[in-house]
Amino acid sequence: MHIQPQKINLSESYKRMWPFVKPYWFRCLLAMVITIPIGALDAVIALALKPFMDTVVIDQGAETPFNLPLYVIPIFIIAFTLVQAALEYGSAYLSAWTGGKITMEMKKKLYQKLLTLDASYLDKTSSGQIMTRFDADANTACTGLLNNVKVFTTRIFSSVALVGVLLYTSWQLAIIAIIVLGSALYPVTLIRKKIKDIVAKSVIVNGSVLTAFNETYAGAKTIASYNLNSYQKNKFYNILTQSFKLTIKNTQRTAWLSPMMHIIIAFGIAGAIWYGSYLITNKTISAGDFVSFMTAMLMLYTPIKNIGKNFNAVQLSLMAIERVFEIIDMPAHIKNQKNALELTGIQKEIRFDHVSFSYEESKSILKDNSFEIKQGETVALVGNSGGGKTTIVNLIPRFYDISQGSISIDGHDIRSLTLESLRENIAVVFQDNFLFSGTIRDNIMLGRLNATEQEVKRAIQMACLDEFIGSLEKGLDTEIGERGMLLSGGQKQRIAIARAFLKNAPIVILDEATSALDNKSEAIVQQAIDNLMQDRTVIVIAHRLSTIQNADKIIVINEGKIVEEGNHTELLSHEGPYKSLYQAQFKHK
Ligand SMILES: Nc1ncnc2c1ncn2[C@@H]1O[C@H](COP(=O)(O)OP(=O)(O)OP(=O)(O)O)[C@@H](O)[C@H]1O
Ligand SMILES: [Mg+2]
Repeated sequence: MHIQPQKINLSESYKRMWPFVKPYWFRCLLAMVITIPIGALDAVIALALKPFMDTVVIDQGAETPFNLPLYVIPIFIIAFTLVQAALEYGSAYLSAWTGGKITMEMKKKLYQKLLTLDASYLDKTSSGQIMTRFDADANTACTGLLNNVKVFTTRIFSSVALVGVLLYTSWQLAIIAIIVLGSALYPVTLIRKKIKDIVAKSVIVNGSVLTAFNETYAGAKTIASYNLNSYQKNKFYNILTQSFKLTIKNTQRTAWLSPMMHIIIAFGIAGAIWYGSYLITNKTISAGDFVSFMTAMLMLYTPIKNIGKNFNAVQLSLMAIERVFEIIDMPAHIKNQKNALELTGIQKEIRFDHVSFSYEESKSILKDNSFEIKQGETVALVGNSGGGKTTIVNLIPRFYDISQGSISIDGHDIRSLTLESLRENIAVVFQDNFLFSGTIRDNIMLGRLNATEQEVKRAIQMACLDEFIGSLEKGLDTEIGERGMLLSGGQKQRIAIARAFLKNAPIVILDEATSALDNKSEAIVQQAIDNLMQDRTVIVIAHRLSTIQNADKIIVINEGKIVEEGNHTELLSHEGPYKSLYQAQFKHK
């Protein structure tokens, strides 16, 4: 995560949350307001006990208030409890509903962002980081926000009245109270600075936990075959220990807060009693004033203590909100320019013009390359491993943008075309294709979501998958497992080819898998590839002899630089990089 952290203050955080809360603000408010009578109703029950005590227990002849019969009191208690229960349910339901909705909207927004983030960002970010920052952070942000607002509203409602009581009974004592409560609240404002670095580290560690699970799942066979159980275990235990240490550190820095407030308040109460006694003997205030003052002050203590308790959660939520908006504000560099053009197929050529590119600024990968792929041609890229072949083809659908030079289709720089239309015109079969969990049909249909059954059938034939699918009990509707786990390498590749077929794009990019297939699968895959290449403009990263020999043009790339260009016979007719590569690599075929 290489994002410049911004300073967002409290009001700004809440301002940014407002669009998410706005559609539900009334229900949010309702959820909070109806919690207020719940507390008040407790007081009613307590009050109802007073006449009961006075008339039944202490003075049996005394009159009840308003001369009500005694059996009214138990009925009152039950009736109030019922109302209280209904309100409590309503509040819990409304809070869950509004909280859920707000979190959902935020996650939708984050997911949209995730879909448009630059490949270069995703390359550098672990899966665990993605999960914590796009999912867990949204949970923390929203839950914390709602709690905060809840505490805030209850505080406002109860505090205003109580402060009124304080001022009414004795302004002198009220000043003591306000000073004490104010200083009790002061330490909580320091917390944020104290825990900020811990929280930032925790986010990373929590991400690592998730990444560890992911890797253990995806790498299970590698772990098993190299007997890495204890190695992995240690690695994981280390992460857990780090997480534990951070939690403890956080506790060390925050747990003193509540006792601290307690102590300050105790000083306040002691001070009030001391000064209050003086005021009473002085006859400035009456004993009754003093009692109601003390009661109000003690009652004020509860909401303030709550703020202290919740403040940690509130801070965590504020920081989560900051992180969420850091992501939402993160610019996507690969996007449509203003007035971008629609690409509608290719008529003339794809041209690389003095193209240089690097993933990291420090290491240049492609160095000033120019070449041309004419419409309808098949161009093969060959060269040493790590030389930059995959990188070259990644640039055409703009997975990455180049730093120098230009790539154009029919004279239009690809950066001046809409991303959607550019990608619509290119079908990519990757070196390592990604299949989604679901059925074979689901995966092929990704090529064109509205394809007819007929078209799917044809794609399957062209990808030489018909025999394989015919042999399956459930045929096209066979589940293939997460990442196509239940399929062979060749089958996966052909499903990817079928997907590309269905897309029926005029430009095809094919990064042939280097993994060795047996002769029969190789022949089948080759047939599928040959079918896919027909009548299209094709850039193929070739590892197969037959693909290379049939190519209209071969481009040899070494260490990011084109060193030779021509067709197979031309290039073999003299000593050169292609000839030596060919002899080293393909001689045995
Ligand atoms: N996402 C990435 N971020 C940073 N560097 C990368 C990235 N992908 C590739 N590289 C680096 O770029 C260089 C070219 O890699 P590329 O994948 O284009 O090679 P290649 O010619 O396709 O090799 P191969 O034949 O083995 O597939 C390599 O040095 C590689 O380490
Ligand atoms: Mg490659």
